[in-house]
Amino acid sequence: MTKVSVIGAGAVGATTADVIAYRELADEVVLLDVREGFAEGKALDIYQTTSLLGMKTRITGTTNDYSKTANSDVVVITSGIPRKPGMTREELIGTNANIVKSVSENVLKHSPNAIIVIVSNPMDTMTYLALKATGLPKNRIIGMGGILDSARFKGYLGLELNAPTSDIQATVIGGHGDTTMIPLTRLATLNGVSVSSILSAEKLKGISDATMVGGATLTKLLGTSAWYAPGAAAALLVENIVRDQKCITPCCVSLDGEYGQNDICMGVPVSVGKNGWETIIDYKLTAEEQEAFNKSADAVRTMNNVLKEIGAL
Ligand code: LAC
Repeated sequence: MTKVSVIGAGAVGATTADVIAYRELADEVVLLDVREGFAEGKALDIYQTTSLLGMKTRITGTTNDYSKTANSDVVVITSGIPRKPGMTREELIGTNANIVKSVSENVLKHSPNAIIVIVSNPMDTMTYLALKATGLPKNRIIGMGGILDSARFKGYLGLELNAPTSDIQATVIGGHGDTTMIPLTRLATLNGVSVSSILSAEKLKGISDATMVGGATLTKLLGTSAWYAPGAAAALLVENIVRDQKCITPCCVSLDGEYGQNDICMGVPVSVGKNGWETIIDYKLTAEEQEAFNKSADAVRTMNNVLKEIGAL
């Protein structure tokens, strides 16, 4: 019996639950939200797709009753406010920090062994906060950002190369911020052929820039932050965990000297399985990439320091 709970039934949370149910990644999915009846409504709507789409997943909703999430194997936290056009992810910290802190504590009371996936923004800082506030072993807290950013990177490369994204291997590391993420163009390939040998440096720079502001572009178009790719990315992370797949994916995890950083959660390639994230893979960055990573870490650390200023840590 696999049970997954998704906290926050907004667009990202509901899409995450929908993809988990559709792909039958869990026997039971619980959706929780603070808004009266909202998660119940979303869950009932998703449940009513089961006979149409041939799924066996059981999905229910609850208004803030964490006892319904008891004994979850994985809990995905999407709670908090999304960004509006023109806002950075970082501007959400004041509101989202206290929400993420209390949600993580409530989750653990009922699912002491769960792996926690953090989606709420600013994601790197919320992952750090969840780790510090809960005191859980570091491998059980995973921030979802790099998978989404890499999917956007592959998407823009796919459009330019006129190739299916499934044929593209590309990774984004660093922070999940418009100026902190690092698309690793040097390592991107189309079925093993370096994209640098196919596309001009100028085109690649354009793709990298578009990837970095990928979320902001959607926020501007939609009037709020995106949900289909963020939901699918969170569900993919859940799949890696519940199926113990050990796939290598860029995730936000606690660094203890890896990539030259300490006391910080940032995006690096890790293997993910039933125990959470397991091994950090060393991509052997060039001096220039390492410099970008260090700059990204400085920005994330500045944001982490705000947690103390606002009394969240
Ligand atoms: C985005 C949000 C979910 O990048 O961070 O769309």
